[in-house]
Amino acid sequence: SASVLRAYRASILHFTANPAQQGDDAQYYEYFGDGLLVIKSGHIRDCGDAKELLASYQAAGLSLDVTDYSGKLIMPGFIDTHTHYPQTDVIGSYGTQLLDWLNTYTFPMEARFADLDLANDVANFFCDELLRNGTTTAMVFATVHENSIDAIFNAANSRDMRLIAGKVMMDRNAPENLCDTAQISYQQSRDLIQKWHGKDRLSYAITPRFAPTSTEKQLELAGQLFAEFDDVYLQSHVAENTDEVAWVKELFPWSRSYLDVYDHYGLLGKRAMYAHCIYLDEQDRQRMADTQTAMAFCPTSNLFLGSGLFDMNTAQVMGIPVGMATDVGGGTSFSMLQTLNEAYKVLQMNEQSLSPFQAFYQATLGSAQSLQLEHKIGNFEVGKEADFIVLDLTATPLMERRMAHTHNLKEQLFALMILGSDRNIQATYTMGESRYQKHAA
Ligand code: GUN
Ligand code: ZN
Repeated sequence: SASVLRAYRASILHFTANPAQQGDDAQYYEYFGDGLLVIKSGHIRDCGDAKELLASYQAAGLSLDVTDYSGKLIMPGFIDTHTHYPQTDVIGSYGTQLLDWLNTYTFPMEARFADLDLANDVANFFCDELLRNGTTTAMVFATVHENSIDAIFNAANSRDMRLIAGKVMMDRNAPENLCDTAQISYQQSRDLIQKWHGKDRLSYAITPRFAPTSTEKQLELAGQLFAEFDDVYLQSHVAENTDEVAWVKELFPWSRSYLDVYDHYGLLGKRAMYAHCIYLDEQDRQRMADTQTAMAFCPTSNLFLGSGLFDMNTAQVMGIPVGMATDVGGGTSFSMLQTLNEAYKVLQMNEQSLSPFQAFYQATLGSAQSLQLEHKIGNFEVGKEADFIVLDLTATPLMERRMAHTHNLKEQLFALMILGSDRNIQATYTMGESRYQKHAA
């Protein structure tokens, strides 16, 4: 046959199940020391041992165009389940906790996104920065402005990234130039769903910012919209900071808890993603488990804003879906490796642990599952979308020395997640096409 398929040769690692839900010696990952990933029309055609696959393709008379990344590690692209593209330029702003940080830094910056040129510029930078960090899918807050959604979806689509985003709904307790109304936010969100949801790799998320910046009417309409469409997403924040939790109690005196406000308006369920989830009680967690509502674990943000420590073990035991998230710009890094590093430390402070296998599962297949996308992305099962990254584990002088003293894959992965950053991302592919190369050819 004259048809040429593209293939990539390197060590390959991907996950097939949640390590936390497996027995001690169960196989929840596949690793090929000398592996080959074969792509056809932007999808995975094969993943396995290089020598075996090369021989079988040759026997079948199929030629392969092989890119040799020997010595590097191929993994599925990282999935960031909660981040804010309009906060790119306020990342690393000094001195405050959540509510002051929003008023001092975040709201003034978001107000500037009324300007479509600015929104386009930041959206393009943001998508490039995700790719530079090996992130190929993200769930993203825009701003209150309709334009801000067009900017991020156009930027993601031109790079063939899988991206979920929504216009912020916010009609009180924020500057006037950042407020919509309940009715306008409903109508604009509805129009944006019809314009963007399901176009190529894009999905829409209904996005009430958090309970304090929405009237009851706005939350009610958000719930109505969530019920109207079978497969749209919903994203918000919950129980991040103790002052925020107390404020919600004042604003919604009838509520049993912060989560109960969202529950009351029908805002829980599959495809609903809540960032932070720190100050929840047993009943809240049970509701999330029963409704399969997902938590986004945002460790760099939770430490930077002094918010608190996420409880991963309870979520795992109760079967609540957990995604990994950067929460830029409350979070301090676009890097999922840095995010795993800080996740490990948060859990250490909480007398819990995060094994390297669990960590890389969470950043790939686990996050895909939390977004109900595991049939499309998250590992190298045949037929899935070919989003993958090439990692250089020895990208810095220190990491080269450290890796020389590792004895197995587990030790290598742990050193990678603790010491790693954008410098370890050698290349990023979406739908089988190169979107970033650290060393330009
Ligand atoms: N709660 C409401 N809005 C935000 C935000 O932009 N960032 C974070 N970290 N928490 C929020
Ligand atoms: Zn956030």
